Amino acid sequence: MKTQVIDIKTEYEKALSLSSKLLNDGEVVAIPTETVYGLAANAFDENAVKKIYAAKGRPSDNPLIVHISKYDELAPLVTEIPEKVKIMTDRFWPGPLTMIMKKSDKISATVSGGLDTVAVRMPENKYARAIIECAGVPVAAPSANLSGSPSPTNAKYVFSDMNGRIPLIIDGGPCKIGVESTVISFAGESPVLLRPGGVTLEEMKALIGEVKVADAVLNDLKEGETAASPGMKYKHYAPKADITVVKGSLSKFIDYIKDKECFALCFEGEEQYFDNCITYGKKEDSFSEANRLFDALRELDEKGAKKVYARCPDLSGMGLAVYNRLIRSAGFNIIDL
Ligand code: TXA
Ligand code: MG
Repeated sequence: MKTQVIDIKTEYEKALSLSSKLLNDGEVVAIPTETVYGLAANAFDENAVKKIYAAKGRPSDNPLIVHISKYDELAPLVTEIPEKVKIMTDRFWPGPLTMIMKKSDKISATVSGGLDTVAVRMPENKYARAIIECAGVPVAAPSANLSGSPSPTNAKYVFSDMNGRIPLIIDGGPCKIGVESTVISFAGESPVLLRPGGVTLEEMKALIGEVKVADAVLNDLKEGETAASPGMKYKHYAPKADITVVKGSLSKFIDYIKDKECFALCFEGEEQYFDNCITYGKKEDSFSEANRLFDALRELDEKGAKKVYARCPDLSGMGLAVYNRLIRSAGFNIIDL
């Protein structure tokens, strides 16, 4: 299959008409969002959704997020909209927030990964919403990477993973946020954070009160344990290089790796201390770290890094999302100096 790339900034009408045609024909189209690029298909077309799993090489029990362009599109997807979800949508939609509710019959088991719930998000990116609106259907869309690889934050990385696998990539420029949306479940008694992201735990608690944090956000699942969110049990975000996250001060970090043949994944301004390094944003600026992390992981591969030691981010605000992705990319290889 030949993969076409259209720049929606310069070819707006063409991008919308072709993506709409392909989505309505049951094909898969890569689209920009403010978090990461997504691999979209008509959420109501099971065969189209199956093509997403095939293109990604994704296990079929890992459910997809359904993306909508208007609030009215939510009600038909779920059995009911809980009061707290309404409060959250008022404040955070459109935006990097995915909410899980009990699914309606309109959502197939292919989309829900066999669960009785559905994850829904209204992206902020204006191109994403225009594409969904023009197609006239909600789209199921996981991140547009091959299963296990870092999520793509620009069209170049989508192309390197998806070339030959899908007919169209819509290039909307670099993603503003750079890590995937926050995933929070409202399907149970009380809200549970399943994946930290662009909307922070602190912001959500301030708005709706208590939010539990699923164990898998900060820890590896033990053998036999079931994940609240199936995605958390799979290997994730991993570059080819072997990564170790190192907790502790900069001086201890420098000392620890000084005689090792390795790359440092460090913060801006620390380059002078290392022969080989890639930076991922500024220390104590978790927004910049989120923005750089997945690109930095791919750049380590491009530089042929084999062994990488990573500086550890702060865990507050967006830092929780950065840390959650980084420890997964490291296969939970963490040392504390
Ligand atoms: O920012 C994002 O959320 C991006 C863009 C494209 O919107 N999408 C994304 O999708 O990251 P994906 O498939 O890579 O991650 C979705 C996560 C997975 O960990 C999946 O297991 C979880 O959400 N998930 C989806 N539906 C779920 C459900 N019904 N119950 C529990 N977890 C669910
Ligand atoms: Mg993903």
